Amino acid sequence: MALEEFDLAIFGGTGDLSMRKLLPAMYSREFAEDLPAGARILCIGRHVGDTAEFLKQVEKDAKPHIPRETFKAAVWERFCKRIQYVGMDATDPAAYKALVDAMRPEPEITNVFYLATPPALFSKVCNNLSASGLATPNSRVVLEKPLGHDLASAKQINLEVGKIFSETQIFRIDHYLGKETVQNLLALRFGNVLFEPLWRREWISDVQITIAEELGVGNRMGYYETSGALRDMLQNHLLQLLCIVAMEPPTSMTSDAVRDEKLKVLHSLKPFTPVTLAQNVVRGQYRSGHVNGVAVPGYRKEKDANPTSRTETYVAVKTEIDTWRWAGVPFYLRTGKRMADSLAEIVIRFKKIPHSIFTQPNSSFEENCLVIRLQPDEGLHLNLMAKTPGDGMRLKPVELELNFLESFKAPRMEAYERLLLDVLRGRLTLFMRSDELEAAWAWVEPILEYWEQEENEPIPYNAGTWGPAAASALIGRDGLQWREEA
Ligand code: BG6
Repeated sequence: MALEEFDLAIFGGTGDLSMRKLLPAMYSREFAEDLPAGARILCIGRHVGDTAEFLKQVEKDAKPHIPRETFKAAVWERFCKRIQYVGMDATDPAAYKALVDAMRPEPEITNVFYLATPPALFSKVCNNLSASGLATPNSRVVLEKPLGHDLASAKQINLEVGKIFSETQIFRIDHYLGKETVQNLLALRFGNVLFEPLWRREWISDVQITIAEELGVGNRMGYYETSGALRDMLQNHLLQLLCIVAMEPPTSMTSDAVRDEKLKVLHSLKPFTPVTLAQNVVRGQYRSGHVNGVAVPGYRKEKDANPTSRTETYVAVKTEIDTWRWAGVPFYLRTGKRMADSLAEIVIRFKKIPHSIFTQPNSSFEENCLVIRLQPDEGLHLNLMAKTPGDGMRLKPVELELNFLESFKAPRMEAYERLLLDVLRGRLTLFMRSDELEAAWAWVEPILEYWEQEENEPIPYNAGTWGPAAASALIGRDGLQWREEA
């Protein structure tokens, strides 16, 4: 479907996200010759002189993020012509005249406002867009995370933004929903008959979802110190993945059909009690260590760090979903920075066979296991038991592997590219609805409150490891291990 003419205005246009993700994503659409002739990208900031100067920054900070195989000087030149810098203070209503002058009028043109700004500015910017006449029933607004700091602030954002834009105009980004494998999980579950009958408590013993990063906080200390792993990753990315794994089959791929099912999962998450908060949640913070053989400092010694910080860089949680499908199946979620490896995966472990007819010694029995890899290599691995060749009946686990890169030679799309395309096409399925956002905050809030009261510090773990020993104990109490530690 061809894109209609649009103007995309990025608040925070000179920032890190714009340079690393948004502009390279739009370049990629340019390369695919997907952008309408007049489409423009207006980058809003306060500190750069004019468009010519801004383009120097784009050259330096955005261009290196374009994959070599899609870079062509002529395409780049064409792309840069679409970019315009608008220097203005987004909090000053009078400054919006510059944006009004720069944007082409609706309804012929779709106007998209991408708010890659701190959430404290969302409401101000939306009000100013409204007062300047830029917010119309045809325009769209994209909200970048963090979408609040807790339930109250998320509600406030929903309320304030909702006064200006209707729910169908609001695109709340969770870039994990734009990842290829997440959509492949939908295809796997609802495009095949094979798994759905088994996708339930009768056959699944437990589910692990891991997002591990070797990276530390880098130069994002200002943000991270007020956020921590729970707000940065668990409340959004991990819970969204859990929803896609656990939701009932939606009646269609329309936005509300999918989002209704995700919401039901969030509402069915077992609420925490004082006992489960103490037993089923582990909070960690990295100390110095070695990642890939390189010595790295601990979190409290990072640049601009608070030397007594209690911010968590690791969180692991065990939860359950109180529904007929899932009752009693533990879901283990974990994420951390400065871990032993960078990977994101979902592991579905099936139950043991009810009775073994194989009595031969040396068989190594393992439960069937489906691993859905989001990164680094996108694919599926299914562990099955097979007979080893030769005499006798000795069984051994073997792996069926599907590597998406090798199986589909088609060019890949980065998460932000797919999501931006969806915004431009007005498709909301991969974006969070206001009630989903609030339900996710409501579920994690008791953890935040518990940590605030608690005298204990986050448990230290050495950089380059799989996190605190308490996280291994958390899953170990159920007689299990994290996949990478097995
Ligand atoms: C972001 C977090 O949302 O996701 C970062 O703010 C994190 O802290 C990043 O590094 C991870 O995303 P990805 O796509 O690199 O796994």
